[in-house]
This record gives sequence, structure tokens and C-alpha cells, in this order.
Amino acid sequence: MNTSSLPRIAVLATGGTIAGSAGDASKTAGYKAGVVGVDKLLDAVPALGTVARIHAEQIASIDSKDMSVALWTALASRVNELLAQDDIDGVVVTHGTDTLEETAYLLHLTVKHAKPVVLTAAMRPSTALSADGPLNLLNAVTVAASKDAAGKGVLVAFNNQIHCARDVTKTSTYAVDAFRSPETGVLGFVQDGRVEFQRTVVRPHTAASEFSVTDEWPMVEIVASYADASRVMVDALVAAGVRGIVVAGTGNGSMHATLTQALADAVRQGVAVVRASRVGSGHVMRNGAANDDALGSVSAGTLNAYKARVLLMLALASGVGDLQRVFDAY
Ligand code: SIN
Repeated sequence: MNTSSLPRIAVLATGGTIAGSAGDASKTAGYKAGVVGVDKLLDAVPALGTVARIHAEQIASIDSKDMSVALWTALASRVNELLAQDDIDGVVVTHGTDTLEETAYLLHLTVKHAKPVVLTAAMRPSTALSADGPLNLLNAVTVAASKDAAGKGVLVAFNNQIHCARDVTKTSTYAVDAFRSPETGVLGFVQDGRVEFQRTVVRPHTAASEFSVTDEWPMVEIVASYADASRVMVDALVAAGVRGIVVAGTGNGSMHATLTQALADAVRQGVAVVRASRVGSGHVMRNGAANDDALGSVSAGTLNAYKARVLLMLALASGVGDLQRVFDAY
């Protein structure tokens, strides 16, 4: 096979269970994430050679629960650099599943190119019986090598499905079909080399996004509402100098009265407050379950609290005045 005409895809490895290792092949929970290097991950998938020419880089070797904003800055910057090269046709990022949805949305908003960027991961370590990483990696590279994936923003290829970075979320602690896009559904599928998209992405992303990666990240934290929620955490965050608070509210973003009072006080001290929901699907309507006009808060729409935090950090970092505008748009 003449491979010189195949697309050239950069695979950036950051760690995760896809690079996890356990002493026993029957172990799918007790293992160490992020210890297997990118070359070994690629060697496990000989079929990659028929799909793309691979350029591999080890960006990090972490369990993604330990993801940091500094690593986000380094990763987004490297993705932008690589995509600016004429000899790179797309990027695949291997990642842990735990914070994949946050990194994917961050890249969706800060990568400035139309070339495909695809994240993938695994629920089972690389040493496990029926490890899901190798096929997920092959499928991610297949999507990144597909011309149809261009211009759709950052994608997540997982368990044969293709998701939009904005909408996808992890929904299971152990199942290999852990990822869902609850309000919107999948964008398409990838199987046996075939990539098929069934819908498009309508909100702005990548080159059309007004946001750029930063190394000056504002402090934004998440608090939840629940029975008998107190104001202790909000008051502590305000005292610590927080710039924004995302609330994982009950139902349609409603909040305990005590928490609501604490947040109203926080807004008066210049803290941006965004209402999301702890429910896991649905949307939070402005002036629905809380009076945002009176409170000075913003509703997150269909973004979950973790993604709302990403958008709020980028918006505060770039000095956006009307936060509701960006939550309505992105
Ligand atoms: C991680 O997020 O790095 C560990 C869990 C996983 O990848 O499934």
C-alpha cells in the first residue's frame, strides 16, 4: 500500500485510562492511569497505518482528574501550532474520561482552525481483557482523517459514536458506552473505517469563537444546591477572591433560599454567578426557576456546571461584559 498520500494526523497523548496499566488483565477498576507511553498505544493498533501517517507527541502522563489550567494552556497552544502546519491534517488527543468533557469544550472554544480535532479515551486500561482504547484510538484517527469532520469544531470519538465537544458528558462510572450528549444526541458514528455525520453543529466554535487560550485564568468555582445548603462555601469563595461561581442547582437551576441570599451578596461584591443544573440533562432557563434579573445572575442553558465553568473562565479572562450573551451564543 502506498501510504504517502494518507492524511498526516498528530496524536497528542495526555494520559488517562487509555494509557492505564494493571498487574492483572482481569482488573478494570484497580489500575494506574496515564502510565503507558504514546508509542506503545500506537503500536497496539497496527491498522492505524492504513488510515493515516501518525506524528506522535506525549504532552502529559496524568490521570485526568488532575487536569490543570496550565496544561490546558499548553495543550491548546500545541494544537493550534500543529494545525497551522501545512503537513498536519488533523489532531487526535488521547485523554482520561473523567475531565474529557471539560478539555474538549475548552479546545472547541480556543482552537482556531477548521481542521479536525478529535478527543478519545477509554474506560478500561490498556492491559485489560477487552480493552476499549485501541478501537477508540483507531476510530478517533479515522474521524480526524476524514474530510467530513472539518469545520465541525472539536469532536469526541468514543464507542463508535461521534459527539460534539459542547454537548458530550460522561454518564457512567464503568460502562464502555460512558459518553452521551443528553439534550442533542450524537453527531454521527464511526465504524469499520466509515465516518457518517447525521447532524451539524450550529453554535460558534473554533475559528468563529471570540475566545483564545490564556495563561491568566480567573478563579471560578462550582457550588451545588441541596437540602439545607448553607452559605459557608459561597462566603469562603468570596473571601478567597473568586471571580465567578457556577451553581449546580436543583431542577431548572433553582437554589436553596440560603444559598440564593449568599449568591446575591456575592454578585453585589462583583462576583459573576451562573446557574446550571445538577440534573444531568435539560436546560436552565433565564428568569425561570430563579429571577436572574433581580439576582444579577446568568443562566447556563444546556451547559452542565463543568462546561459552564470553562465558558465563564474564558469570558471573564477576555473581559466580556454581557455574560448572558455568551451563554446564549456558545
Ligand atoms: C482519567 O480520567 O484519567 C482516569 C479515568 C479514565 O480515563 O477513564
